[in-house]
Amino acid sequence: MKSLLSFAPLLGAALAAPSGDFTVLSMNVAGLPAILNSNDVPGDKTTNAKLIGSFFAQYNYSIIHAQEDFNYHAHIYSTDNHPHRTPTSGGVPFGSGLNTLSNHPWVDFRRIKWSRCSDASSSDCLTPKGFTFMRLALSTSPTVSSYLDVYNLHADAGSQPDDLAARQDNINQVAAYISTWSIGNPVLVFGDFNSRYSRTADTAIRSLLSSPSTSLSDPWLLIARKTTTPPTAESLCSNPSPTNYCETVDKVFFRSSPLLTLTPTSYEYVSDKFLQPNGDILSDHNPVLVNFTYGQGVNFQQSNLQGGPHGTWFSDIPVLAGLKAPLSVASINLRGASRVDSIGVTLSDGTVLRHGGTGGTAVSLALGAGEFWVEGEMCQAQKDGRTRIFYLRARTSSGREVSAGKKSGECVVYRAPGGWQIVGFLGQDGSEVDQLGFVYTRQ
Ligand SMILES: *[C@@H]1O[C@H](CO)[C@@H](O)[C@H](O)[C@H]1NC(C)=O
Ligand SMILES: *[C@@H]1O[C@H](CO)[C@@H](O)[C@H](O)[C@H]1NC(C)=O
Repeated sequence: MKSLLSFAPLLGAALAAPSGDFTVLSMNVAGLPAILNSNDVPGDKTTNAKLIGSFFAQYNYSIIHAQEDFNYHAHIYSTDNHPHRTPTSGGVPFGSGLNTLSNHPWVDFRRIKWSRCSDASSSDCLTPKGFTFMRLALSTSPTVSSYLDVYNLHADAGSQPDDLAARQDNINQVAAYISTWSIGNPVLVFGDFNSRYSRTADTAIRSLLSSPSTSLSDPWLLIARKTTTPPTAESLCSNPSPTNYCETVDKVFFRSSPLLTLTPTSYEYVSDKFLQPNGDILSDHNPVLVNFTYGQGVNFQQSNLQGGPHGTWFSDIPVLAGLKAPLSVASINLRGASRVDSIGVTLSDGTVLRHGGTGGTAVSLALGAGEFWVEGEMCQAQKDGRTRIFYLRARTSSGREVSAGKKSGECVVYRAPGGWQIVGFLGQDGSEVDQLGFVYTRQ
């Protein structure tokens, strides 16, 4: 990933937003036990798995999603060298076959099982398939950090009515999860959807594309088809596919957020990069490679996230992005005792932002005209084996301070970039504050 500087031309503010690029690969690695399913792939599955892993290492794609990574998983990992990889959830019939291999670390990872499966035309209920969620740290720095919510999935296969219903249910489940756990965040969803637009009774991916709650776009449509309208005419891919115009069931979807703009720059089927020495394929699916560039938000950016991934995700981004600029904080409102119970601000337009519980003692600091909240210190430590926010100190541009909780554990000071200020929060909360990041906007 090369680093480069890009400018925010629309605002004419000449703000240099750090930006970069990354690549994603979605690959069904055909790792069902050979006695159950050859996946129509010639050769020995152990040898093939080692070769797939060595290609993962050689091409060094930033984020790889594997599906059907069941019984040959250890062989893939034995030859791959990505620094961050999910531990397997097991072979058939225990695991979901979903794994991520990444050059970037993450701060949260979960496996979620589908609530519905169908054996109408294939054995989808044989093993607990589903989807995974991770909050990936694309870049972190002492001031401004970028996170990306990344979902891998393997939806129900087949085209019998019961399969279509199960698959629609699977996609609805992911969409509902995104609309709760990825509020305000940029999102990537890529994996084996077992779904094609051209099967018109197969509405699953169309619904994902058209749902306002997920707001996802498909780089295959944008780049290979130069449209936003899904096709209805069938165009199946050979394997390897010499063209990117044909449609496969392996899909990549993305959305930007006010914190991070994602731009897909290329879309390719890369089966020809995953061949055995004799030219045979390594998977019955064409692996999909999409290259992206990203740029940090023009009007909103965020600090690093501190604390643990417990409680419920919240983000002030949707509210803040809907307000009329310029924004500023009229008062900082905290509650705390041995830890931080709640955090909040009242903005100068009267908007109240608040997260956490009702315990502890309330403290508040009213800001004067032309005074901004420019620095925040956060401490994280453990309570009952879980990491939470124990202390928060706010400092304004006039050097005035307010704090809540008790200073302990690991403490970090975040200063808004020059000309910026803290106006809100994102993180996870319950009766206290489990995880926290600051939202910055321009002064
Ligand atoms: C893979 O790419 C990353 C980011 O571009 C780079 O930092 C890393 O050194 C590369 N790894 C290998 C093994 O070449
Ligand atoms: C996408 O990125 C990969 C890895 O950096 C690179 O090898 C490939 O050429 C890129 N594809 C295109 C079409 O630019």
